[in-house]
Amino acid sequence: MLNQFKKEVLDGLSKTPQKSLPSKYFYDKKGDDLFVQIMALPEYYLTRSEMEIFQEKTEDIISALSLNKENKYSLIELGAGDGTKTVHLLKALVNKNINFEYFPVDISQNALDGIKSYLRTEVPTLIVKPNHNDYFKALENLKQDGTIKIILFLGSNIGNLVDELATEFIYQLGSNLFKGDKIILGVDLKKPKAIVLPAYNDSKGVTAEFNLNLLDRINKELGANFNRAQFEHAPTYDEHIGIAKSYIKSKIKQSVIIDGIEFYFEKDELIHTEVSRKYDDQVLKQILSKTDIRWENKITDSKQFFANYVLEKN
Ligand code: AVJ
Repeated sequence: MLNQFKKEVLDGLSKTPQKSLPSKYFYDKKGDDLFVQIMALPEYYLTRSEMEIFQEKTEDIISALSLNKENKYSLIELGAGDGTKTVHLLKALVNKNINFEYFPVDISQNALDGIKSYLRTEVPTLIVKPNHNDYFKALENLKQDGTIKIILFLGSNIGNLVDELATEFIYQLGSNLFKGDKIILGVDLKKPKAIVLPAYNDSKGVTAEFNLNLLDRINKELGANFNRAQFEHAPTYDEHIGIAKSYIKSKIKQSVIIDGIEFYFEKDELIHTEVSRKYDDQVLKQILSKTDIRWENKITDSKQFFANYVLEKN
């Protein structure tokens, strides 16, 4: 794990013309805490918009799934988080006597423990089977169990993937499913810059802290000497394409030593750290066209900020 981290950091910072660091490394203990704070920020509308869908449009989600009382279902959530959105769907399914079990999948055992005890009080009759595993390993393990699968991939987590990688991800999901299995995909929708950019550049500076924490992590885990005060958070949003990007900008000309290797930064040089893709129907259709997953339904919040697409394996 550490070697992989080191390799990706050294590779990313050696890139020309633009240095980059992978966003997946935001999430150490500190990064997890900061992301929880981000979700509560007034500017970060994504979480509240998707919550509204799960609260107010539960019936729309359920009818889009065309469930059948005779079948047995597995609801598999990839990156389950705290369960506060999914709980609305789970309660409604239990009330309808749908025969199903819930499999939260996460690489954080801590998140899984939290969700298990939360659901024990919220939906006591629900069978919860936490799966501490890589997403695709978890799916592979469940593939042959004879149940119909409903995969939840929420929170615009797919947004961290450029379209080519998102296509690969959906394709790989599909290869672990059978015809008729469903996917509920939560994505942030394209919208004006005046709304999106503040979500990635909040007034309290929590997102800046989240982005720059990557430098602290590299210092801590790889013994580097980044001086945090000499770098700053620099997000952008291209409203036409619908891609928010986060960068770390070097405030001065400087160099940093990591694992005995010196990296040079020009004044105002950018390190690209994150992509947050915003979707519309066309973006999704383009991605799905290269997979065996097809579009069934789209459910949005009242402001049309966010969408939960219901997809089906062909
Ligand atoms: C967890 C990928 C959905 O891109 O909106 C939040 C991560 N980055 N603020 C996003 C994030 C900066 C978030 N996702």
